[in-house]
Amino acid sequence: MAGTEGALDQARAMSFLERVMVDSAAAFSGLSTSIGARLGLYRAMAGAGSVTSTRLAEHTCLDERYVREWLAVQVAGEYVHYEPATATYSLPDEHAAVLADSTSPVYVMGAFTMLKSLYATEDALLDAYRTGHGISWQDHEPGLFEGVASFFLPGYSASLVQEWLPALDGVREKLQRGANVADVGCGFGYSTLFMAKAFPNSTFRGFDSHVPSIEAAREQADRNNLSDRVTFEIVPAEDLPPGPYDLITFFDCLHDLGDPAAAFRRAKQQLAADGSCMVVEPNTSADLLESMNPIGRSFAATSASLCLPAAVAQQGPHALGNHAGEEAMRAIANEAGLQNWKLALASPTNRIYQVRP
Ligand SMILES: C[S@@+](CC[C@H](N)C(=O)[O-])C[C@H]1O[C@@H](n2cnc3c(N)ncnc32)[C@H](O)[C@@H]1O
Repeated sequence: MAGTEGALDQARAMSFLERVMVDSAAAFSGLSTSIGARLGLYRAMAGAGSVTSTRLAEHTCLDERYVREWLAVQVAGEYVHYEPATATYSLPDEHAAVLADSTSPVYVMGAFTMLKSLYATEDALLDAYRTGHGISWQDHEPGLFEGVASFFLPGYSASLVQEWLPALDGVREKLQRGANVADVGCGFGYSTLFMAKAFPNSTFRGFDSHVPSIEAAREQADRNNLSDRVTFEIVPAEDLPPGPYDLITFFDCLHDLGDPAAAFRRAKQQLAADGSCMVVEPNTSADLLESMNPIGRSFAATSASLCLPAAVAQQGPHALGNHAGEEAMRAIANEAGLQNWKLALASPTNRIYQVRP
């Protein structure tokens, strides 16, 4: 490649360097963020007011020297406030909502829980990029599944029952009366359980091909005393057990399937008369220029390292990636006989579609 020396616009190079330095600083400190969550440091600081490193170390049963170094990262990133006069540190309540409270709608730690396992796939990704082979969902470390489930949880908690289901024609009424629901690609089953809690007259069956996720989902059902109305089974999407189902949901999983058309064909066969599919996908566009923002960038990055390789591993015929866009998915649904496609709602992170024959 030809050298660019001499032709460089130095000001533009410096400005771009600054942007990339911000990214590298975030990437370096992401490890400390994950450590802070796993060791309970953010939780210990939440609501605790101003603390010294010694007090925080005692409270978390950790080594003070390491805790002080961790706090320096937090101060540098402006996650934690530092008062030099008293050598004390505090985590503002608003920051605690994002970093420490897993029930908060703005909790974001799931993304950091995913990082360790995502970065661990770097060598496998080199191989995949060279050979065109996939990386199966089950080939990742356990933290990835927990992180993905935790990443989507706040959105489901805040919106699924309150906004998304009511945006679908006639679905909430059916669930209130008593409906039969299948949640395909349910992972840890948080979506299934939120629906089950809200609609006690209905029965719910979660399906996923990933054994540890289904085991985790069953534990959650037991813990929530919902096992009488909620079951979780290890079944691939294209083998959805006989219904009929009034509602078949696909939460953030359709693009992960190697054969989403087969999943849609099977769903169509098992839908009750007047039943609907609900497809929840990342709110991303097939137009690359629309992804130039933190949400679009996060989805593009996880698509290139996780979603696309997982779909490729299922050996087709599709490998959509998570920003295939509405038109591509609508075409697949159409081909499978689900011709009635409607965008019901869009949130900053998700698009919710109602899909019917
Ligand atoms: C991004 S995760 C989403 C999980 C869950 N729906 C959620 O929102 O947290 C994608 C899920 O699709 C599942 N999956 C991928 N391919 C599948 C297939 N062919 N059949 C069933 N599940 C599949 C994975 O095991 C994984 O749990």
